[in-house]
Amino acid sequence: MAADRDLEVLFTREQIASRIVELASEIRAAYGDEEILLVCVLKGSLYFTADLSRHLGGNVQIDFVQISSYHGRKSSSGVAQIRKDLDINIEDRNVLIVEDIVDTGVTLEHLVKLLETRKPKSLRIVALLSKPEARQCDVDIHYVGFCIANEFVVGYGLDFAERYRNLPYIAILREG
Ligand code: IMP
Repeated sequence: MAADRDLEVLFTREQIASRIVELASEIRAAYGDEEILLVCVLKGSLYFTADLSRHLGGNVQIDFVQISSYHGRKSSSGVAQIRKDLDINIEDRNVLIVEDIVDTGVTLEHLVKLLETRKPKSLRIVALLSKPEARQCDVDIHYVGFCIANEFVVGYGLDFAERYRNLPYIAILREG
């Protein structure tokens, strides 16, 4: 229960907001006037996708994908499965995968391989958070909000057992 756990704020809502403005301007500069299809990886990227998309300007489309993954510390299987697929045909489009956090990279590697088979014009990744020390797959993340240590974090979309997603900040979750 929440009462048994400690939250240590890692990034305030202001820090998150200003980093997203920077990311959006970097991304828009790279794509110029071209349309960008944001692929929001549910559920954790919900708020990040909403905020990033509103700062990107220009032509932006949004679609959703959901992947069930059993990452490193919970299982050794490294399995990732699509639970909800995209609605939009991505062939010949500029696809930008929007991830909340990249930990082992298993989920992202699986998604990238799948989307590459659909022949997008370009395929890039933006992740709000990255834990480089935890990486087990060699995935190329083009835009990163913040690199963090190998800690479990919640808030701003990130959950622990479906809780804490609605925190407006990002915090390290520690056993109390
Ligand atoms: P990966 O496949 O190990 O890179 O795991 C990616 C997914 O695991 C993320 O999209 C999150 O859903 C979840 N995840 C990894 N680390 C954390 C964390 O610190 N807090 C909350 N969820 C996490």
